[in-house]
Amino acid sequence: MRLKREQPIGIFDSGVGGLTVAHAIKQLLPNDTFIYFGDTAHLPYGDKSAESILHYSKKIAEFLLEKNCKVILVACNSASAVAFSSLNDYVGEKAVLMNVIDPVVEHILQNKTYKKIGVIGTKATINSGAYEKKIKEKRQDIEVKSLATPLLAPMIEEGFVYDDISNAIIRAYLSKKELKNIQSLILGCTHYPIIKNQISKFYNFDVEVIDSARIVANDLKRTLISKDLLRSEGKTTNQFFISDYTPYFEKISKMFFEEAIHLTKIDLWR
Ligand code: DGL
Repeated sequence: MRLKREQPIGIFDSGVGGLTVAHAIKQLLPNDTFIYFGDTAHLPYGDKSAESILHYSKKIAEFLLEKNCKVILVACNSASAVAFSSLNDYVGEKAVLMNVIDPVVEHILQNKTYKKIGVIGTKATINSGAYEKKIKEKRQDIEVKSLATPLLAPMIEEGFVYDDISNAIIRAYLSKKELKNIQSLILGCTHYPIIKNQISKFYNFDVEVIDSARIVANDLKRTLISKDLLRSEGKTTNQFFISDYTPYFEKISKMFFEEAIHLTKIDLWR
């Protein structure tokens, strides 16, 4: 079946993290509509096994395909790192499948100035070594230092941002020897752009903090243009689905999207 411009873009994450990407997409592709799925019943993904993450992701992909999405964007680093290739076999030609790791790696590879990079993310992402392997494959001259920061996503989901508790946790992680002397830091979890300023402040703005949201949105735009799938006109109504109601999801989604947000709770695993 041929994909059409009018079809929506499907985006999913374990919770609010993917909203950072959805927000960048809305700004860059104002005529496209998206369907967002936040798997709040199963978060955090980062502490789960690859099998569980794939199990959740497949069901969500199936749901987004039923909703007729032309693109399925895995807006979660953990799922991008451990479930993407199996998801690719599953989705096949039914939609364009994209992840949030490859565009960031491409961005790094294209810029000769990167030499010493830090990556922070969930245990699933960091233990997979996805960023390191993909960067080192093409650029052995870049030193990549990785650190799992598993408390950050749950901390953000609980609404602990820009306060003393989150400052203390961020400081404890970023002071670790693994991240000594880095020039840039990849936020390898889509939740982290929410605390980007806090992280930059820890480094006194001396370390470039690389946030995937805009990079991924730009990559999506290029992909849609190259496949003649970019929607250039029409009314947009975005839809938000969650697997469990959380007050913070509602708060953050309203903050990102000024429109009236209608959240639908749906259990795909019944
Ligand atoms: N936002 C996700 C990521 O990019 C998932 C965080 C989590 O649920 O552990 O990895």
